[in-house]
Amino acid sequence: MTTAELLSRIRLNGAVPRHVAIIMDGNGRWARERLMPRPFGHRSGMKAVREVVEGAIEAGIEVLSLFAFSQENWQRPMTEVSALMSLLEEYIAREADELEEKGVRVRMLGDLERLTPPAAAAVDRVMSQTAHNDKLTLNLFISYGSRAEILRATQSIAADVAAGRLTAAEVTEEEFEKRLFTAGCPDPDLLIRTSGEQRISNFMLWQLAYTELFISPVLWPDFGRHQLYEAVADYQARERRFGRVSA
Ligand code: IPE
Ligand code: IPE
Ligand code: MG
Repeated sequence: MTTAELLSRIRLNGAVPRHVAIIMDGNGRWARERLMPRPFGHRSGMKAVREVVEGAIEAGIEVLSLFAFSQENWQRPMTEVSALMSLLEEYIAREADELEEKGVRVRMLGDLERLTPPAAAAVDRVMSQTAHNDKLTLNLFISYGSRAEILRATQSIAADVAAGRLTAAEVTEEEFEKRLFTAGCPDPDLLIRTSGEQRISNFMLWQLAYTELFISPVLWPDFGRHQLYEAVADYQARERRFGRVSA
């Protein structure tokens, strides 16, 4: 099936996932297959980001969450970490205006205090430049770890309870979710992980409770809108029961 045929099929199927999350994995292996250094794979992965952003808009997806850099990734060799930080700046510098024109609202989620000052400034700039957009929300998870996010929310609740602003009984799921980076976003309907790895790697542990999982063998730099649509079509053929029985 061509990409255009796939797109019209998923549109006809209706019920496009509102929120798609992607663990973008396999850049290093993609580079190694070409006897190139790992940052070459990361750079090539930027094209795939552009592809899935455009694909998400065309398919009518409301929220696209991309896991770009984990808290654990800070432990990679310094050369790789700085290459990734420069790529983040470059991505924003190159794409901000186009994202703005396409109606994309960009949000960066994670421990942004650890970013280098120029990267942090670029992040601030693109978030305020696109804050008013509503065609697609693009959540970029940078320096993000889900356990840390959950602890941060818990600390904020503990502080409010200690100060008498909240009682223990008022600590509901809604109250908790307000304190996550993803506050206001629906939970992901579909999680895609590329490169065949079958794990969550500390990504959105709370939010993924009932998300459908799709593991793609494709390495991230080779992923594009065609692969995105294949995942969406697979999702549309599933029955989500949320613990209940079929109708
Ligand atoms: C994903 O690709 C990008 C980041 C985690 C930053 P990897 O760099 O993890 O690539 P592999 O898994 O080593 O192939
Ligand atoms: C997960 O990929 C993090 C991102 C894609 C940003 P990793 O390559 O870091 O995860 P592990 O180490 O294989 O679990
Ligand atoms: Mg990896």
